Amino acid sequence: MNANLFDLTGRVALVTGAGANGGLGHALALGLAQYGADVVASDIDMDGAEATRNEVQALGRKSIAVRCDVANPDEIDAMFLEIDRAFGKLNILINNAGILPSRVRPLELKLEDWNKTLAVSLTGAFLCSQHAVGRMIAQGTGGSIVNISSIASLAALGRGNMPHSVAKSGLNQFTKELAVEYASHKIRVNAIAPAQIMTQGFKKLLEDGRFSPALYERLLMGIPLNRLLEPEEFVGPVVFLCSDAASIVTGVLMPVDGGNMALNAGGSHTWPTA
Ligand SMILES: NC(=O)c1ccc[n+]([C@@H]2O[C@H](COP(=O)([O-])OP(=O)(O)OC[C@H]3O[C@@H](n4cnc5c(N)ncnc54)[C@H](O)[C@@H]3O)[C@@H](O)[C@H]2O)c1
Repeated sequence: MNANLFDLTGRVALVTGAGANGGLGHALALGLAQYGADVVASDIDMDGAEATRNEVQALGRKSIAVRCDVANPDEIDAMFLEIDRAFGKLNILINNAGILPSRVRPLELKLEDWNKTLAVSLTGAFLCSQHAVGRMIAQGTGGSIVNISSIASLAALGRGNMPHSVAKSGLNQFTKELAVEYASHKIRVNAIAPAQIMTQGFKKLLEDGRFSPALYERLLMGIPLNRLLEPEEFVGPVVFLCSDAASIVTGVLMPVDGGNMALNAGGSHTWPTA
């Protein structure tokens, strides 16, 4: 066994939604590279994907950028062919791409927005995983899939998050089913459930006049560690799940949430720090 359990040298990782847009996928792509992985930076935004590819290459790893809308099965097919050509293998898949197309209450939600959320956040993960699992089985190497879920999958958020929550709940059960189906091939499938991350999109939400300034304070009341999370703080948990350190961990949903899910919502207060 490798003395460095977290070493990902020689493994190829695909991260969806990895454009250099200050989001989680960007941080994870760089983090996986820092631990030795070569990285396929995929995003619907090609400029963002290319910027991430350049940053990964600057870290001394191999990388390609691929434009792919994970809601489009043809683009997913084409992306995996490109990965085959560039690397000839795949060891790690991070199903990170996810959207919140509109933030309206269930009665006002348009069918197209419901369908779009599920297409990107759930069906996209399913289709990418089908390709990845097929290749991992053919390689005979096993592999690791990490699905980026959300605390929204475990408790309702309100505030127009319903399709997002439903898609992420589906992703949780998808994680378990896939883990059970392919454990015999040493393919491990896990998910993380982040609380609110200080991404560009989330910063915009905090500035949204409908919620601010109270939203930030309200969110903190639910987070015992008393701060919102930074994208880079997810590198540790995700590298762990992808690495040999997690060789017997599969089918797990790990909250990465500053203690949010540990706190009973009925008592959404913690003692003052002072
Ligand atoms: N930000 C949070 O507070 C938070 C909390 C819990 C879970 N999450 C989950 O983390 C993941 C990343 O979220 P984020 O906040 O970093 O998002 P983000 O909006 O900051 O970044 C998402 C990236 O995905 C890309 N993208 C959008 N639609 C795509 C598509 N159809 N195909 C491929 N790429 C696409 C975007 O161009 C962008 O680069 C999502 O699955 C999200 O649901 C985020």
